[in-house]
Amino acid sequence: MVNPFDRFLWGAATSSYQIEGAWEEDGKGESIWDRFAHTPGRIKDGKTGDVACDHYHRWKDDVALMREIGLQASRFSIAWPRILPQGRGAVHQAGLDFYGRLVDELLKSDIAPFVTLYHWDLPQSLQDKGGWPARDTVDAFVEYSDVVTRALGDRVKHWITHNEPWCASVLGQLAGVHAPGSKDADEALRSAHHLLLSHGAAVPVIRANSPDAEIGITLNLIPAVPASRSAADLDATRYYDGHINRWFLDPLYGRGYPGDMIADYRRKGFVQGEDLAFVQDGDYATMAAPCDFLGVNYYMREICRSHDVPEEENEPRLIQAPGPETRTDIGWEVYPDGLFDILYRVHSGYRPPKLYVTENGCSYGDAPDAEGRVRDERRIAYLRDHFAVAQRAVEQGVPLAGYFVWSLMDNFEWGEGYTQRFGIIWVDYETQERILKDSAHWYADFIRSTPIRLDSAG
Ligand code: FCB
Repeated sequence: MVNPFDRFLWGAATSSYQIEGAWEEDGKGESIWDRFAHTPGRIKDGKTGDVACDHYHRWKDDVALMREIGLQASRFSIAWPRILPQGRGAVHQAGLDFYGRLVDELLKSDIAPFVTLYHWDLPQSLQDKGGWPARDTVDAFVEYSDVVTRALGDRVKHWITHNEPWCASVLGQLAGVHAPGSKDADEALRSAHHLLLSHGAAVPVIRANSPDAEIGITLNLIPAVPASRSAADLDATRYYDGHINRWFLDPLYGRGYPGDMIADYRRKGFVQGEDLAFVQDGDYATMAAPCDFLGVNYYMREICRSHDVPEEENEPRLIQAPGPETRTDIGWEVYPDGLFDILYRVHSGYRPPKLYVTENGCSYGDAPDAEGRVRDERRIAYLRDHFAVAQRAVEQGVPLAGYFVWSLMDNFEWGEGYTQRFGIIWVDYETQERILKDSAHWYADFIRSTPIRLDSAG
């Protein structure tokens, strides 16, 4: 079997707010995550990303660690308020220079930069003007994308517009557990729409500035599994899948929003009237701008059970709900097969020309032992099992072209603060010392011993 691409990339991923720190240095503007984390009660351990991993100052050493592991690609995000401190208008050269230096260092190290334009740190001044629920933010994002890709488009060959618009809209504005922390279904749906619309509107602009680059978007996709064959559970599964997967995939691939979900949202009172008031003429075409790849972030499956049906009517049970022993520290089930399910489903159902796993990883708190070694065997097992599934997907014809472990290093895990360690590099937040965990050494060996292609037959 011949792969449609010439190189499979092994990488690791991070995001600006989670690692950079320097939250108000060199003229950076405030972001909604600065504001949110500074608000008492929002973050589990009361901590903030003010310093985080201090990557803003230690970026060169961090790239050296990537080199040591042998990474072939690095996915990171740009902090919009470093580039446009007020969200729009005056461009801040110091911000562009920071990322320019980082990109150059990566290229010098033969590490391909995969740049995410938006990983949730919206400038606070744009939030003050309405944030993502406001349509103006679409234009602001396109302007910002223009500025960044003009500056870096000659060197960056992989652009990701947005990371996980579901989290930015639903966790941020319906569940209220992420910035900006509101709880309003209408705002969440508007936000999702404007995130998707801004993606599509930015694609041609990025393409013009960075003509030989690949452009895509990253979604968090979750295979939905029914708890039983009962009609109610199957319907709960349809709803969950629609809510988290299809609401985002369908419009990106030219199908508009799924009709069954519009009806459900209307029933729930999330949508008023017959139409989605925030959708304007031409929006569906804009959202479906042809892209080069889809980024998939995979962490778990969801077992769906209807809340309206008594347990005994749910027989026969198809699956055993996962016990605590199969969960990581953050409570997410370890289920490698779900990665195959979601990759194959996206490939067969939507046909993106290429796929990348832009995030996959696990939270385990293993700390340095007396010798200063971090023996995180569970992470090694997790990665080994997920890589094998990725391999199976490629063998079955899924055009998967690369894989990014979340995360390069332990970092600020949003509402969880520093309580969750996802890194293959240990970070001591007091001293900023970094230690390559056993999983990083294992990954280094894996990359070194894996031929350039992941396909089985070459
Ligand atoms: C994803 C986020 C990423 C990280 C992982 C654990 O949803 O994109 O920033 O927090 O989860």
